[in-house]
Amino acid sequence: MSKKTILVTGGCRSGKSRYALSLSQRFKGKKIFLATAQALDEEMRERIEIHKKERGKDWTAIEEPLDPVSALKREGRREGLLIVDCLTLWICNLMMAGWDRESILKRVHELVSECQRAHCSVALITNEVGAGIVPENKLGRDFRDIAGEANQLAAQSFDEVTLMVSGIPVAVKRPGEEAAPAVDAGKSPHEFTETKKQGLYEAIYKRRDVRHFTSRAVDPAALGKILHAAHHAGSVGFMQPWNFIVIDDPETKRKVKKNFQAANSAAALNYQGDRKKLYGSLKLEGIVEAPINICVTCDSSRLGPHVLGRDTIRETDVYSVCCAIQNLWLAARAEGLAVGWLSILSREQLKRDLEIPDRVTPVAYLCIGHTEDFYEKPMLETRGWETRLPLSALIYYNKWNGSPGSFSVALPD
Ligand SMILES: Cc1cc2nc3c(=O)[nH]c(=O)nc-3n(C[C@H](O)[C@H](O)[C@H](O)COP(=O)(O)O)c2cc1C
Repeated sequence: MSKKTILVTGGCRSGKSRYALSLSQRFKGKKIFLATAQALDEEMRERIEIHKKERGKDWTAIEEPLDPVSALKREGRREGLLIVDCLTLWICNLMMAGWDRESILKRVHELVSECQRAHCSVALITNEVGAGIVPENKLGRDFRDIAGEANQLAAQSFDEVTLMVSGIPVAVKRPGEEAAPAVDAGKSPHEFTETKKQGLYEAIYKRRDVRHFTSRAVDPAALGKILHAAHHAGSVGFMQPWNFIVIDDPETKRKVKKNFQAANSAAALNYQGDRKKLYGSLKLEGIVEAPINICVTCDSSRLGPHVLGRDTIRETDVYSVCCAIQNLWLAARAEGLAVGWLSILSREQLKRDLEIPDRVTPVAYLCIGHTEDFYEKPMLETRGWETRLPLSALIYYNKWNGSPGSFSVALPD
């Protein structure tokens, strides 16, 4: 059984925890019970004891009333089943600790993402708290609203949702089913569902240029998928000017490495003092370590001398290849493969080494493989070489350097 994310919801005493425990029959590996409950009084202490007895000894129990996200990050690396019991109690703990709605929902979003990232299956238990009468006080109403929103967040992206009714599990969502998009007059009917959007944005924001590779081989089928994605990029006049030279031959890689070393020594001359030292300490390629290298090229003669749309801006053929490379980079991230773009090379030497004909330009030399960890931020940012520019300063209106008029872009936080 492959890894799953399962949301178990229902009323109090509806059998949620028991159902979640029974899921361990479906998944082999370690069994971890991550409890958000706090034994603040005698009644709660008794309840916790009863739950412990119910579970038996083969479960590892972790108590984490405020930060199940970090606990999940730590404990979710191995195959098995991890139960988080429960989302609503955790929200309650955060509210009691003074967290506001926005910060709580942001944290819930992080928990949901962490559940997706974990190597183990995760069953997240929650409560359906909105079915009764409107709570009498504001705290109660706030809690009900936050819990409802948090449940929706999890249900949207989890593989399965089960509602417990009087001890009977009712399947609300099963793999392959998508929750219906919310009906909203302001939304485009072509908009992706939240789950699909999250996947796309995750690939974009978690894509990294990687230079550290493990020796783990690249699955030919995964490589096929990412090249297929590259081949579906836009191109001027539908020219599709790209080719992909897939390199696994150690001797060819060695030649490219020699090319890099010469180009890198020349590039280092651009820097002085501390900057030079820092440049020298940066790892700027992974040619030999990466099991696969790909040279992506542009054949400017692909559709003959005239290509629809290219007469005025000749370089649009190279732009098209860059679009294909970006598709490849994002698809690779989704497949768990790391990509490093290497441009510190003599193009002419590369053409000779790969026997590329004159009319064809190498656009990118990519190192592809698995990595221990995708960097959280661009490596050049972490190493203090550059920082990300503020996007708001890069957006102009109606002319170069123009200020907003009647319309201005609303940027996310
Ligand atoms: C056209 C292009 C050429 C690049 N060449 C190199 C290179 O030769 N060596 C290197 O280490 N990184 C190279 N990079 C990676 C950039 O340094 C990296 O994209 C940037 O620092 C932002 O980091 P991120 O891709 O992880 O977001 C290149 C990236 C692009 C788009």
